[in-house]
Amino acid sequence: LENGLARTPPMGWMSWERFRCNVDCQADPRNCISEQLFFEMADRLAEDGWRELGYEYINMDDCWSAKQRDAAGQLVPDPTRFPSGIKALADYVHARGLKLGIYGDLGIFTCGGYPGTMLEHVKQDAETFAAWGVDMLKLDGCYSSAEEQAKGYPEMARALNATGRPIVYSCSWPAYQGGLPPKVNYTILAEICNLWRNYDDIQDSWDSVLSIVDWFFTNQDVLQPAAGPGHWNDPDMLIIGNFGLSYEQSRSQMALWTVMAAPLLMSTDLRTISPGAKEILQNRLMIQINQDPLGIQGRRIVKEKSHIEVFLRPLSQAASALVFFSRRTDMPFRYTTSLAKLHFPEDAVYEEEISAKRHIGSYSSRLKTQGFSGKGFFSQGPLRPQLCPEEEP
Ligand code: GLA
Repeated sequence: LENGLARTPPMGWMSWERFRCNVDCQADPRNCISEQLFFEMADRLAEDGWRELGYEYINMDDCWSAKQRDAAGQLVPDPTRFPSGIKALADYVHARGLKLGIYGDLGIFTCGGYPGTMLEHVKQDAETFAAWGVDMLKLDGCYSSAEEQAKGYPEMARALNATGRPIVYSCSWPAYQGGLPPKVNYTILAEICNLWRNYDDIQDSWDSVLSIVDWFFTNQDVLQPAAGPGHWNDPDMLIIGNFGLSYEQSRSQMALWTVMAAPLLMSTDLRTISPGAKEILQNRLMIQINQDPLGIQGRRIVKEKSHIEVFLRPLSQAASALVFFSRRTDMPFRYTTSLAKLHFPEDAVYEEEISAKRHIGSYSSRLKTQGFSGKGFFSQGPLRPQLCPEEEP
């Protein structure tokens, strides 16, 4: 969506994967969906080095609202869990140099059973969000038909635009339509949305991460060209810092989301995050690569029988990022390749910019080349080596 926003993949924090629809603030005051949770996460983003690295959105997911609209038909927050109201929360977030995201659902109910936004409420809800000072909207798609979605998602894009407030627009539309053409039209999506969930929800497990990775790279011929500045595929939140991933698996999620040009939306408890998880999420080189201004999504270029996979993302200034990813579960594996095998020109220069200490050394490297890029990344352009979409040797 050409609204001047999300020129690089949005970065921030989102409540859903870690905090879900926990609304029991009596039994669990620290972890329930309440303004307190968002105040505290905003403090952490602002005070623990996240904001400076680009993590600027603090996104409320489902279950923030009251069970009913008010007498004027307006969405209202749950009065006991959000006594200050959303405007006050937005002010608090803005005062810390951050931005606030909110969640809605194009349908009768949200996925968690809270009031949804049916077509007749699209305009009103867009105006409400803008009046509150919201900076991003995730519009989910539970409890609506394909026809309603085809009308409602573009309608909300127009309604947000009409408010005059810059609001990043995240559409879950494709995730409800199987994520692939012909049901999903990525040309239209890129025109009306800044980002979109294509596929299943992430859960706190390595299996879940792998199933998402498999789906995105199996379908890369469709998905990869759809992404670019202002319009991104969203493989869902980063679960680093939670309970399901080992240290190495956490590094892998970071590297793979980086090479995918995915939004970096963490869903973890920033109040208690371990130093190890924090170090991965705050890895400057990963963030720099993820936020590369060219905004070209990476592709899997090699899939070996040995269960080694290589991913490549072309970057600005004739650089590239490579991710070497092992799915092996036996032992460390010596993988030998060459620039030629990876389809780089012979005069390509290999630069290991990341020392083992700075991390993800074995996962990602930068290549400085003479005008590299690959077929499959651009439809046209100078000096492209012939790059097969994917290789199975
Ligand atoms: C859907 C979305 C999730 C989350 C929940 C909330 O499942 O895909 O990301 O927003 O709804 O109920």
